[in-house]
Amino acid sequence: MSELKLKRCLKCNNLVEVINNSNSAIMCCKEVMQDVVPNQNLEIQEKHIPNYEKVGDKLIITVKHVMEDDHYIEWLMVKGKNITYKKHLLPHEEAIFEVPYEAGAYLYSYCNKHGLWQNEVK
Ligand SMILES: [Fe+2]
Repeated sequence: MSELKLKRCLKCNNLVEVINNSNSAIMCCKEVMQDVVPNQNLEIQEKHIPNYEKVGDKLIITVKHVMEDDHYIEWLMVKGKNITYKKHLLPHEEAIFEVPYEAGAYLYSYCNKHGLWQNEVK
């Protein structure tokens, strides 16, 4: 399984996904874009981490986060061995995502204020 690789421009806040990682620098606003690593702040982890439940051959992913106009989960992503699923969310929508079960898949949630969070399906 390959983990998600995101890069952010610290000047304009552009966020890009690296599909093919050659380790060359990616530039934006005349500066090197920085790696986005999953947040590990334990104080707010419970509200951001993508939780999952296996139901039959499905994986139900949920996040216990508020979905307010100015603070919400922007998207959920599942990266499996050969397939990636992504769901965009809007304020007041439920942060829930149902995908086929795959052991070892990486789960991601992205909060507009607290960034990227990661979990792994056991
Ligand atoms: Fe948040």
